[in-house]
Amino acid sequence: MNNAWVPVANRITDIIKETDVEYTFTLESSIRPDHGQFVEVSIPGIGEAPISVSGTGDGWIQLTIRAVGHLTCAISTCKVGEQLFIRGPYGVAFPSALYENATLVVAAGGCAVAPVRTLIRSRLADKKLAANTRLLFGFKNPESVLYKDEIDEWSKLVQTIVTIDKEACSWNGRTGLITSHVADVDIPDLSQTHVVIVGPPVMMKYTSAQFFSRGIKQEQIWLSFERRMACGLGKCGHCKIDNSYVCVDGPVFRYDKALHLID
Ligand SMILES: Cc1cc2nc3c(=O)[nH]c(=O)nc-3n(C[C@H](O)[C@H](O)[C@H](O)COP(=O)(O)OP(=O)(O)OC[C@H]3O[C@@H](n4cnc5c(N)ncnc54)[C@H](O)[C@@H]3O)c2cc1C
Ligand code: FES
Repeated sequence: MNNAWVPVANRITDIIKETDVEYTFTLESSIRPDHGQFVEVSIPGIGEAPISVSGTGDGWIQLTIRAVGHLTCAISTCKVGEQLFIRGPYGVAFPSALYENATLVVAAGGCAVAPVRTLIRSRLADKKLAANTRLLFGFKNPESVLYKDEIDEWSKLVQTIVTIDKEACSWNGRTGLITSHVADVDIPDLSQTHVVIVGPPVMMKYTSAQFFSRGIKQEQIWLSFERRMACGLGKCGHCKIDNSYVCVDGPVFRYDKALHLID
């Protein structure tokens, strides 16, 4: 029987170096995570961390990992053929069925494109849903643009706004914070729109404010929170804020249900 506590060894079949510090690992895996869910990834003797699932398919998943600390730096040195240990998937997913008859705007900052990538891929795989999808991405600089080739492909299908924080000689696209481009997102019918916003807390707060100023209501905005977690199962209390366990009540929350989580 499947035990949610027990990590399972999964073989790495492919590694893509996305940026200086971010890598996408493809792993053999039979799990079928929903959009926005995460897994607990570990290397025995080194550590464990929650990581969003950035790609799924028949018999495989993808994880995009930023090498920032103990475990993630160790993972970044792994090679194809080695194994990572996975338990999950965990957490509340984006309610993609609810978005089906609406325009969906996905706004993501930096490596937060990872947790929304499967949602975007599934929307763009369907002609009708693609026609009602808008993308808005903000990155620090040209070097930190994640999934560059894939974003180029998405931009051929749907309105895709990509901005970097400051002008750079290797960049001839938009500049400025993501908040300053919200006004340009094409929203045909305000009442029939949902907005997914994922990124650092400050980005989610001020990007939401820009959508509010366009007439979007709290109930139309969906956020995903990356709080410090340990068990991922609602048992240890590491992620508890007031009465919410971010690992099981989230990481995806509707804005009006997450007011106590917004810094
Ligand atoms: C739901 C969810 C989804 C996530 N998805 C992803 C993902 O897709 N990709 C990804 O790369 N990351 C993701 N993360 C973040 C990832 O889990 C963390 O960065 C994790 O801490 C990495 O583990 P580590 O052992 O490598 O780093 P750690 O050693 O835990 O360090 C991580 C960072 O925190 C700092 N830090 C360490 N200890 C402390 C402390 N005590 N107080 C303050 N700061 C400290 C370090 O300096 C470093 O910058 C996700 C987190 C959550 C909750
Ligand atoms: S991480 Fe243990 S309760 Fe949420």
